[in-house]
Amino acid sequence: MKKFIIPILLMLLMISACATATPQATPTAVPATSTSVPPTQTALPTDTSVPTAEATQSNEVVTSNISFTNQVLPIFQTYCVECHGGIRTREGLNLASYDGLMFGSFNGVVLIPNNANESLLVQLIQQGEMPNRGPSPSSAELQAIIDWINQGAINN
Ligand code: HEC
Repeated sequence: MKKFIIPILLMLLMISACATATPQATPTAVPATSTSVPPTQTALPTDTSVPTAEATQSNEVVTSNISFTNQVLPIFQTYCVECHGGIRTREGLNLASYDGLMFGSFNGVVLIPNNANESLLVQLIQQGEMPNRGPSPSSAELQAIIDWINQGAINN
């Protein structure tokens, strides 16, 4: 009986030796870390937004940057400049230019960048106070103004 113990011990030793050795011996085939980066599909800028917008916007809201010149200003020209810009600047408010808009009225600013809800200009349109005569901006047009303000109200 005793003569079996030694070979068994030896076997156990060998097995344990192998067991510890194997992890290193077999270089667990490194799963070819999926280096399958798709051929950078740089989504072409859909609209004619200004370069600065691309730089600041990483990948979050790339939906649509509202352009002041191309989208917001035409709304003011259609519905507001009759009284705010050009000949008349009611309440000192000139909506015919970016500077005039940002300057505000005799009473102060009429919009707060990044905060359309607190912007007087938006509130007055929503309440139906402005324009106080003639057709009003459509809901889509009002939304464009709101989005533009919430995107920082930049002169783009
Ligand atoms: C028919 C003339 C008229 C039109 C069109 C008009 N407004 Fe006015 N707006 C006024 C007058 C007058 C006042 C000042 C008295 C008052 O608040 O009603 C005023 C005041 C304002 C004020 C408040 C200024 C302040 O500090 O109290 C804002 C903001 C404003 N208008 C925005 C607009 C916008 C935006 C449009 C276009 C969507 C517009 N208005 C179109 C006549 C007009």
